[in-house]
Order: sequence, then C-alpha cells, then structure tokens
Amino acid sequence: MRGLTDETALVTGAGSGIGRASACRFAEEGANVVVADIDEEGGRETVGRIRDAGGDAAFVRVDVSDTESVQHMVEVAVETYGSLDIAHNNAGILTDFVETTGVSEADWDRLIDVNLKGTWACMKAELPVMEEQGRGAIVNTASESGLVGIPGLSSYTASKHGVVGLTKSVALEYASRGIRVNAVAPGPTRTNIQSGVLGTGDTSLVGWLRTAVRSVRLVVRTLRSPFDTAAMRETPMGRIADPEEIAGVVAFLCSSDASYITGHTVPVDGGQAAD
Ligand SMILES: NC(=O)c1ccc[n+]([C@@H]2O[C@H](COP(=O)([O-])OP(=O)(O)OC[C@H]3O[C@@H](n4cnc5c(N)ncnc54)[C@H](O)[C@@H]3O)[C@@H](O)[C@H]2O)c1
Repeated sequence: MRGLTDETALVTGAGSGIGRASACRFAEEGANVVVADIDEEGGRETVGRIRDAGGDAAFVRVDVSDTESVQHMVEVAVETYGSLDIAHNNAGILTDFVETTGVSEADWDRLIDVNLKGTWACMKAELPVMEEQGRGAIVNTASESGLVGIPGLSSYTASKHGVVGLTKSVALEYASRGIRVNAVAPGPTRTNIQSGVLGTGDTSLVGWLRTAVRSVRLVVRTLRSPFDTAAMRETPMGRIADPEEIAGVVAFLCSSDASYITGHTVPVDGGQAAD
C-alpha cells in the first residue's frame, strides 16, 4: 500500500475503538488527521497518541446527528489542513438486545439519527469539498449487521443496512467525479461499543439513570464476557477482531491501491459472511 503523505483524513468516532485505530493508522501512513468525536476526552487522547508517535492531528467536537455540527467539523478540517482527501464516517452507537416491540420510539430515533442520518450528514458536508478538489475517498463503517438480520437488534441492523445502501447510491453518483465511496462491515471487534453508553449525548436525569443501569450491566457482562464467548463460537476464525484489523482495511480502501474499487461493503469479520 502506498502512503498517504500530506493527505487530510477526517475520522468520526475517533475517540475510541475502530475510529481511534483508523486515525492512528492514517497518521502512520503520513496523513494529517482530524479526530472528530462527541467525546472530547477520548478525542484528545487520540490526538495525543498521534502526536506522541510523531504525527499531526487536531481535534474537533462533533455530534454526527446534528447537521450544523457536522458542517462545522468539515469547515474546521479544511481550515486546519487546507483540504479533505479522506473521510472515515465511523461514529456509531449500539442498543441493548430488545425485540422490536420493546424498542422505544426515542431509542429508535436516536440510533437512526446517529448511525444512518449521521453517515448521510457527514457525506453531505464532505462531498462538495471533495468534488471541488476533484478527488476524495470515503469509507463508511457499516457492520456485519448491515448484511444479515440479528434478532433483538432490529434498529441497529436497519441503520447498518441503510449505511450499505447509502454507500452504493452515493458511490454511483460520484463514480465519474473522482470520488470513491466504500464501506467496511466489521464483525465482532474489541471496543467500547458493547457498553451502549458512550455517545448517547443524553444529559437529562432519565438519560443519566439509563447510563448508570447500562454501566452496571456492562460490568456484569465484562465479568461473564458473553460477547467474547458468543463471538468466538459464531466466528469461523474463533476470535474477535482487534480494531487495528478493521483500520488496515479502511486505510487500504482510502489508498491509491484501491483506485478501482467503489460502491462496495467489505466484510472484515473472521469469515462470518461466508458461513
Ligand atoms: N465493535 C464492534 O463489534 C463493531 C462491529 C460492527 C460495526 N461496528 C461499528 O463500528 C463503529 C465504531 O464503533 P466502535 O466499535 O469503535 O465503538 P466505540 O464505542 O469504541 O466508538 C464509537 C465512537 O463513536 C463516538 N460517538 C458516538 N455517538 C456519536 C455522535 N453522535 N457523534 C460523534 N461521535 C459519536 C463515541 O464517542 C465513540 O468514541 C460504529 O459505527 C459501530 O456500529 C462495531
């Protein structure tokens, strides 16, 4: 893979997990990285790691479900580094396993707003800049849940199927204009997303109580580690992924080695999609 020297890469959800890994990987490849997240502490930690390793990065706070906030994020990226060559639209949240009839309207709306509308909002802000430059590469984070159904996760699977469809349509719109648009579909990956806590942005008393309940559940889950156990059972490779394994594919899709690939969703899932 060729390097990304002097390119500007924007990563949402870069304060943790897969986004942090891709931000660090872009920096290793020589890109200037705009680290965007709703979680300021996590985002600044990522910037610190990149700078400690000799790279260049800047933080911008964003709520991807808010179009004004997203527009501001893209403006900061261009003001800071003078271009926008790569975007990894990755921020996302997960819910607890609940059957469809038990999903509240508020939970449905928040999940779709962050995972699906957020991906659309990012591309809506990024594409005009890339079109003016005549070049650009976008990778959206979908999920294995964007390719198959999962009982108890209907809102999440709907949002990720939406990301896959959105990726295909936007790729076709911009294929002849120098902009490639792809997605990755990670299988189970070792990150904080299982907590369902980060990034909800709900600071009301009800939101705080829900966060507290989820945190307790997380501790119980962590002690029992059913995610690892279930994932190992369900994944042909028999293990869950490290975020760096997803980041490597994202970096490839943004590189010139992937210059003839657009509109695809690449499973990075230890063989799950083949099963
Ligand atoms: N971990 C997995 O097993 C897995 C599998 C498939 C897909 N994914 C997807 O990967 C992406 C990254 O998740 P992760 O596993 O690294 O989880 P993570 O929780 O470690 O990271 C998600 C990041 O997104 C940020 N975020 C949440 N809401 C936001 C918002 N409204 N605006 C801006 N930032 C926001 C969080 O603060 C956090 O830093 C998500 O889209 C997720 O759906 C994860």
